Amino acid sequence: MPSYKYSQKRFFVENLSIENIAKKNITPFYLYSSSQIRDNFSNFVKSFKNINPLVCFSVKSNSNPFILKFLKKLGSGADVVSQGELLKALRAGIKPSKIVFSGVGKSEEELRIAIKKKILLINVESESEALLVNKLSKKMKRKTTIGIRLNPNIYANTHKKISTGKAEDKFGLSKNELLKLCLKISKFKNLKLIALSVHIGSQILSDNPFKKSLNVISDVIKKTKIKFKYIDLGGGFGISYKKNDKKIKLNNYSKLVYKFKKKFNCEIIFEPGRSIIGNAGILVAKVQYLKKAKNKTFAVLDAGMNDFMRPALYDAVHEIVPVIQNNKRTKSIVEFVGPVCETSCKFIKYKNYQKLSENNFVAILNVGAYGSSLSSNYNTRPLISEFLVYKNKFKTIRKRQNLLELIKV
Ligand SMILES: Cc1ncc(COP(=O)(O)O)c(C=O)c1O
Repeated sequence: MPSYKYSQKRFFVENLSIENIAKKNITPFYLYSSSQIRDNFSNFVKSFKNINPLVCFSVKSNSNPFILKFLKKLGSGADVVSQGELLKALRAGIKPSKIVFSGVGKSEEELRIAIKKKILLINVESESEALLVNKLSKKMKRKTTIGIRLNPNIYANTHKKISTGKAEDKFGLSKNELLKLCLKISKFKNLKLIALSVHIGSQILSDNPFKKSLNVISDVIKKTKIKFKYIDLGGGFGISYKKNDKKIKLNNYSKLVYKFKKKFNCEIIFEPGRSIIGNAGILVAKVQYLKKAKNKTFAVLDAGMNDFMRPALYDAVHEIVPVIQNNKRTKSIVEFVGPVCETSCKFIKYKNYQKLSENNFVAILNVGAYGSSLSSNYNTRPLISEFLVYKNKFKTIRKRQNLLELIKV
């Protein structure tokens, strides 16, 4: 996270002191660095330079309207999974011709909007969905461009709850089902099948699953005998959450995708989320209470699992760092937990953490992706503020939800 660093024991985002921001605002809050987002986006594009892909940012990873507008300016399209995300992407100024719509359970209303807006692709995931898109398109006198999502039955070597490309996962169609559906679709007058899509999972740290997936796709394309204009290779590129997490190397994969593109003479789409926004965000919280227990001390933060769900949902490990460092160490184990009335409302445990006091500020790292977008009002807690450092200035990009609004009947 090059945009976040210590200077004289104080934690900074770009050129701004996080302590100063925390003193002036209600904690907890999300804080993002626009220069980190820009660097991540341009590094991603650079990794696949020869391929010149259409990059459709995965809106589910972070759907803050200002961040979407910023990504649009960088040239991004959008991968959306709901009507809400589709409308947010359009409002951010992203052209329909750069929007793809994924998901196993798109409703009739969602499909109608997508057809009406003439987005680049509706990636269908079942025969029933293809039939419905055809029926709606006929009523609306449209010929809709669609993709078809393959489930390549690949083990992505990631957490089971974010694996999407194994046969037992609900996503996409098996090779055989896909081949059968391609034949049927060729007879549907109001559909134009122009893409094949895959997405095998998230937080993938090795290029192996991606390479395997590419092989399965090649085989399927040959069998369909269809000339697909686009191959949508999804997202899933992992980031380092823990010190020992090895970063995924995209060079080899990029070379393979380049060969693949040449061979099939197609355009490539990617749908990255985490790799663009994950390390660009932190969550700043306050130590509300320190409480001694049998073999440890609980540091009870004012941020809970409703604000940041990944540890409770996926056992995700996110480092927590002090906003001001000191040289004193505790002997006991420190466990960071939140205030929500659930045992799983806890974050991480450390041995020999620096000595903490109540009211100290800390930062939960790498929370830009699937942080705010997964947050909720659980325990009737308001959604928290989001701030962005943009052009060296601090900007509110979401106001803290008003509690009175929340409790209105
Ligand atoms: C269809 C689809 N595309 C793209 C993504 C983005 O994945 P990631 O954030 O791992 O890049 C997801 C998330 O799981 C997804 O379901």
